[in-house]
Amino acid sequence: HSGRVVVVGSFNVDHVWALPALPRPGETLAGRYHTGPGGKGFNQATAAARAGAATSFVCALGEDAGGQLARALAAGDGIDLRDLRSDEPTGTAGIYVDADGRNTIVIGPGANAELSPAFVGEHSQALARARVVLTQLETPVESAEAAFALARAAGALTVLNPAPADAIASGALWALADVITPNETEFCAQLQRHADMRLDPDALAGLADAELHAHCRRLLPHGSVVITLGKSGCFVSHADGALRGDAQACYRVAAAAVRAVDTTGAGDAFNGALAASLARGGDAAFAEHVAYANRYAGLSTERAGAAASMPRDAELKARFG
Ligand code: RIB
Ligand code: NA
Repeated sequence: HSGRVVVVGSFNVDHVWALPALPRPGETLAGRYHTGPGGKGFNQATAAARAGAATSFVCALGEDAGGQLARALAAGDGIDLRDLRSDEPTGTAGIYVDADGRNTIVIGPGANAELSPAFVGEHSQALARARVVLTQLETPVESAEAAFALARAAGALTVLNPAPADAIASGALWALADVITPNETEFCAQLQRHADMRLDPDALAGLADAELHAHCRRLLPHGSVVITLGKSGCFVSHADGALRGDAQACYRVAAAAVRAVDTTGAGDAFNGALAASLARGGDAAFAEHVAYANRYAGLSTERAGAAASMPRDAELKARFG
């Protein structure tokens, strides 16, 4: 039987404008607007649930329309919602997407900033039943630490998506992470923070595997690093003697061939699906879970929206076999 995934993180109402180009200071632009559910935490929880895992989501919501939307959607996807009810407004994000699919995002954390370690502690029983606990950096780092400490005590696997790149992951959180899943920018930002090393995100793709592996070992000596590289798939690096069923300590996994229309939340799709696949467990090697997450994230980019674009496991099978 499949194990439970617990996601601790943010919910945002996303306001998205599709524009010919990103706005410059002083400029006024008109674009195609849509709104929908987002937030890295909720996107990842939705992906985990739709990928087939029993999923709990620990978050903070306002007593407003955004909070009601989150509750309705969670119920629709069978997500076990553990929401702190905040006096702050539900989180929001303003997203501009240009014609090349590049985006800029601004966040109004609102209720997300109120997610407290004490509230996480109230849900220790749910965390103790998890096989995988997944979190990000859009909610207070102390809450993530509390979740990982409870997860570790219960023998669950801890997966940290260190996003967004400008958020600070504490040394304590770092020490409690079994697996981290940065993209290029997040990898370089955390490398500077945790290993005091400067690396240009654009130079990353050109590095030889052995070199990239060495950087990963510096960044998270005790755990596994999965760098998501968009169209280039991902790079996996394990600690010596902790290969998680893989034959090699480092390797690349190709991305699925897809026609991307909207990459918003693609990283979240990857993380949620990876957590669900890891929770399913079985005899599969880590590389197989990563390959599943790659296909899942790929399919999510063929649809518009963040949480709304997360495919179901059956759709994945239909698309890729
Ligand atoms: O990762 C994508 C998400 O980042 C969006 O849904 C937005 O809400 C921001 O949190
Ligand atoms: Na999408």
